[in-house]
Amino acid sequence: MKTREEWEREVKAAEQARGWQGRYRMKYHLMPPVGWLNDPNGLCQFQGVYHVFFQYDPLYGTDSGKFWGHYTSKDLVSWNYEGLALFPDRQEDRNGVYSGSAWIRDGEMHLFYTGNVKRKGDYDYIDRGRESCQLGVTSRNGLRMSEKQKFLGMEDYPPEYTAHIRDPKIYEKDGRFYMALGGRKRWEQEGTRLDRGAILVYESADLETWKLAGEIESRERFGYMWECPDLFDLGGRTVVSFSPQGVPGEARRFQNVYQSGYGFLSAPFEGRGWGTRTVDGFREWDMGFDFYAPQSFQGEDGRRLLLAWASVPDSEKEYGNPTVEEGWIHCLTVLREIRERNGILCQEPAGELKTLRKGEFSLPEKEAVKLPSDAVDIELSAAGNGPFRVMLEDGVSGSAMVLEAEGTQARLAFSGSLGAGRKERLAVLDREIEDVRILLDVSIAEIYINGGETVFTTRLYPQGEGMTLRTEGGEGRGWEMGGFQMRKG
Ligand code: FRU
Repeated sequence: MKTREEWEREVKAAEQARGWQGRYRMKYHLMPPVGWLNDPNGLCQFQGVYHVFFQYDPLYGTDSGKFWGHYTSKDLVSWNYEGLALFPDRQEDRNGVYSGSAWIRDGEMHLFYTGNVKRKGDYDYIDRGRESCQLGVTSRNGLRMSEKQKFLGMEDYPPEYTAHIRDPKIYEKDGRFYMALGGRKRWEQEGTRLDRGAILVYESADLETWKLAGEIESRERFGYMWECPDLFDLGGRTVVSFSPQGVPGEARRFQNVYQSGYGFLSAPFEGRGWGTRTVDGFREWDMGFDFYAPQSFQGEDGRRLLLAWASVPDSEKEYGNPTVEEGWIHCLTVLREIRERNGILCQEPAGELKTLRKGEFSLPEKEAVKLPSDAVDIELSAAGNGPFRVMLEDGVSGSAMVLEAEGTQARLAFSGSLGAGRKERLAVLDREIEDVRILLDVSIAEIYINGGETVFTTRLYPQGEGMTLRTEGGEGRGWEMGGFQMRKG
């Protein structure tokens, strides 16, 4: 196993030689300096500073395993890249420092993560050949980490669980701490092994000693594995967010290979004993092609913020990522403020992003407007008297992205090369379309409908010179967006 110093040297060299480059890199989204990024991890605000850690494979293509990369910011628009935060340098995490979260307590940052071990050999990697331990570090300044400490190992899990147990997220209630872990439980139906997803909950008084407290399950089986669980209170209820795998697709729901969404804990949690609880309902966070593994945290001002990986695992067969050729793959969404309205968790880009708005331009109905930049923020309102349609074209013949809504039916569709294989996603709105905000940033679009009740996130890969936007059944305005200021470490 390599030491921390060896990893650091190797990764720094890769970042310096091949990093921060590519025509599809964005201006106000976080991306890996080089190589591969997936889930956001360890999100928190600590001593006034926002911390965004992320699953990072800078040496993509080798079997180095996952690291935690690290960005910090005081204002969500100027960012520092802090380099690698966690390395696979222990037996328990030798095949990857997997996803996890942060908790701030008594002036200290506590980070929790899953150590992944994948033994070499002839294993199914479900019941055998895999180990998942829960580990952690602490930090007094958010940058220098303590020695790693192991909290839970294979011997601590209930026997009916497979070896897929990961992604610790902390929830606090009445001075006690709960660690939610995503899991895959052995489960059969009529003699056929299907497995089912569930959340394991461990309890602690001190964030160090953890003991099993209970589980969260769906009433009916809902997929075979739940990744990246998240528990938080909002609007008087306890939200249970998770990313299930194995949910059958439907015409207007569950259209991606894996989903991520939320329900609510069946009964409010009163603190005394967890036991088995159920999650009621499941609403997808995002109806677009590229959204997975969201994680939330509470800012020091009390806001609930959500950040997700703008991609979905195992979707390569359906659509491509042309940035592979540029030496970097994937990005995060923008941070989203979450508010509850009529039982729906509405998402809105963090207010700070508006400070990046520069020149304003108008978008009259039925006029093809050449956008002043490949990074813009657009606000449209629907006239409300017929179908609504926005068409974005990159100047390549037959290539476009279209957002359409009629009644409560909405559709996001690509033609030509712009979607790199992405075709169509549908959604049912909660009410007729009234307003749309589109964050377009070089190779990503985040589309927020009706105050963020429904969101579509998608990557896109323009090939022409500049973009044109045309609206029917509505009009609006837009702003050219300045980019994040980025200190590259
Ligand atoms: C979700 C996930 C997590 C895991 C991590 C590994 O995308 O599979 O469950 O911890 O990615 O990178």
